[in-house]
Amino acid sequence: MSIVQPEEGRENDRARGPAQGRAGEAARAHRDASLNHWEEAASGWIARQAAIRELSAPVSHWMIDAVDPQPGQRVLELAAGLGETGFLAAEMVAPVGGVITSDQADAMLDGARKRVGELNLTNVEFQVLNAEWIDLPVASVDIVLCRWGYMLMADPAAALAETRRVLRPEGHVALAVWDALEHNPWALLPATELLQRGLIEPPEPGTPGPFALGERQRVRALLEQAGFTEVWVEPLQLTQRAASFEQFWEMTLDIARVFHEAVLSRPPSEIAEIRDSLAERFAPYTAPDGTLEIPMRTLVGVGTA
Ligand SMILES: C[S@@+](CC[C@H](N)C(=O)[O-])C[C@H]1O[C@@H](n2cnc3c(N)ncnc32)[C@H](O)[C@@H]1O
Repeated sequence: MSIVQPEEGRENDRARGPAQGRAGEAARAHRDASLNHWEEAASGWIARQAAIRELSAPVSHWMIDAVDPQPGQRVLELAAGLGETGFLAAEMVAPVGGVITSDQADAMLDGARKRVGELNLTNVEFQVLNAEWIDLPVASVDIVLCRWGYMLMADPAAALAETRRVLRPEGHVALAVWDALEHNPWALLPATELLQRGLIEPPEPGTPGPFALGERQRVRALLEQAGFTEVWVEPLQLTQRAASFEQFWEMTLDIARVFHEAVLSRPPSEIAEIRDSLAERFAPYTAPDGTLEIPMRTLVGVGTA
């Protein structure tokens, strides 16, 4: 992985002045915390791999349709996690073309390696890398895919500039980031419960997080500022289905690491209270057959290098 050397980073911070120096420190602290977070979150994600794949399939299909992979092309998936979107492309670019499935967290890529075996894909390689410093040559890939990654990065603008650098002229990027929290009750209701109990802090405005880029114009502007043309961003509605509230609760504990840590650090009586209170909050999303249908809204976008 090619990264700025710590000394070089500090020199740059000194040259820019104290405010940027603090911003640099905050960014470095975020990167360390994010890496730990995702190394720890991986086991829950791998346990729920099939459910995540099913839930998010419409997003992957939108992204793949937008970039239209062709046989022989080289595809890079950033912040790939379990790698599902890139694997759809791998089938389309085979046998000569291939996919680089990358993520900062090697433990997340374990789930992707397992899935490649199940799919018998032979044109996928893996790379541990931070998307803010992509360790690949200029103009070396035809397509970049990044589903639910850029908003988590310390510097999404840097990551998008890097994305464009590694794309060949007229190559395409397709991305997804969560839309604003108010459109995502699957996350809004648990966050409200934990905030009201003082178990989590509200996110600082402007800091990375799942909903940090939840504004269509902002995503569009970031893509254009990175030099992409023919930019298009739109919302895409999804539904998280669960047979019961219990099933939704267990899934959320497995894949939402902040929720997992905040809830499971409490005594059993309080965990039961949180569970009951959340069951009430989600009751309005009960379908006629008794299952839960919880709305989710993501933004999906595409641009040309
Ligand atoms: C919400 S998961 C999404 C995984 C996968 N793309 C998906 O849609 O299922 C976010 C992933 O982004 C990765 N990630 C976050 N910041 C990153 C960065 N700066 N560089 C590379 N990967 C990053 C995490 O390690 C994690 O695997």
